[in-house]
Amino acid sequence: MHIRKLTIDEEPPMDLLLLADPSRILVEEYIQRGECFVAESGGQIIGVYVLLPTRPETVELVNIAVKESEQGKGLGKQLVMHAIEVAKSKGYRTIEVGTGNSSIGQIALYRKCGFRITGVDIDFFIRHYSEAIFENGIQCRDMVRFSQDL
Ligand code: COA
Repeated sequence: MHIRKLTIDEEPPMDLLLLADPSRILVEEYIQRGECFVAESGGQIIGVYVLLPTRPETVELVNIAVKESEQGKGLGKQLVMHAIEVAKSKGYRTIEVGTGNSSIGQIALYRKCGFRITGVDIDFFIRHYSEAIFENGIQCRDMVRFSQDL
């Protein structure tokens, strides 16, 4: 497996991107402005993440996904750590990420990768998504915001 930047003539792996974010409109919008990295194994794309510059010296990990059959094997953690290293090497001072209040595994993953909770964007998912989202028997309403100094 190796992680590389998506080339300019390649299509972003939309099926994977939609696993992390059900809004195709939002995905298509930030994929234009951000940088997309993919994890490849045996000629197949099995993971993706997108880094988006937001404020001066700040970049946000706006999408990260691992193919369902490859989840739980440590690839998500490798992708997050790769994103942190890329952000650092580009001179950013802060990396941020957000996830739903119901995304228990993702919250654990970001904490394990050095992110700290800095805030909660109340009702983010109610405002931006037309369908109700449930995970782990919990309604996804609020976005938990994380940050890490680089
Ligand atoms: N409690 C505690 N730790 C948990 C956990 C839970 N409920 N669920 C996951 N973790 C931990 C794992 O134990 C692992 O830590 P470890 O290495 O110390 O054991 C870590 O989180 C991540 O595991 P990993 O195997 O690297 O994750 P993955 O390859 O399955 O990728 C996602 C994680 C989130 C990218 C993947 O599940 C995915 O693509 N999900 C769908 C898309 C998505 O939700 N994207 C994120 C949107 S915010």
